[in-house]
Amino acid sequence: MPHPAIVKDNVAVITGGASGIGFAAATAFARARMKVCVADVDEARLAEAATKLSSVTAAANVMTSAVDVSKVESVTKLERVVRERFGGTDILMNNAGIQPGSTLFGEPDNWQRIIDVNMWGIINGSRIFAPRMIARGKPGLIINTGSKQGITTPPGDPAYNVSKAGVKAFTEALQHELRNTKGCHITAHLLIPGFVFTGLTAKGRTEKPAGAWTPDETVDFMLARLEAGDFYILCPDNDVPRALDEKRMLWAMGDIVENRPPLSR
Ligand code: NAI
Repeated sequence: MPHPAIVKDNVAVITGGASGIGFAAATAFARARMKVCVADVDEARLAEAATKLSSVTAAANVMTSAVDVSKVESVTKLERVVRERFGGTDILMNNAGIQPGSTLFGEPDNWQRIIDVNMWGIINGSRIFAPRMIARGKPGLIINTGSKQGITTPPGDPAYNVSKAGVKAFTEALQHELRNTKGCHITAHLLIPGFVFTGLTAKGRTEKPAGAWTPDETVDFMLARLEAGDFYILCPDNDVPRALDEKRMLWAMGDIVENRPPLSR
């Protein structure tokens, strides 16, 4: 039984949807006979994505939209064009992200761009789409793609860690808000992928490293966890057997001890 928002003719918008995890999600939603808007800053990849999706669903069920998630006006336009074409949004997957590398004080100085795309991207998407999604009065999902690095903050890429810590904090604020909004059937979820072999992580490799997840595996896992009603969708690490009790993983990640938002209505 799929999640009630993942049904025929409902509308899914996926940012960073032209490649990697986002494209795998767009494909899965299209296979569920949803209407899909693939939104991405890379227009060449958007065209490729539309061509690939045409083998999965009717062209009428797919739209693409160029968007820069770091810019309020661009995301505002995205919400509007989806509404004009498909009538509104039921699932928003704020997934666009970059990882160009960063250091604390020296080069490369990518701080502004990383935080603008990774953190402001999900803030913009959520703040612009959520009020209209709530107003529809239907079950809906907001899925924000975080990272283990936003929780364990390992040394090496501080700007990315900070941006993804912001994604976690924002998503939790959104969970509180949605749970306390009368008549709201939208829930917010934090997707924490494992190591997924995509353009973001390939770094010149053409073969998937042993143990890395594929984008499709990540999305299959995500769909199963959404169906189970999980708020934190935590994909086990390569070196951890998948069967490992998820609770143990959640404990190991730090302050996430229950797979549910901290406040109840
Ligand atoms: P990817 O590079 O294949 O996909 C990211 C997409 O975001 C690209 O299509 C890119 O054009 C788009 N994008 C970049 N900047 C944008 C902007 N300003 N506006 C709109 N779109 C923009 O990478 P992947 O791995 O699929 O990443 C998806 C998300 O998963 C990211 O948020 C990433 O941080 C996160 N993630 C990925 C992991 C991995 O192992 N691949 C692990 C943990 C998190």
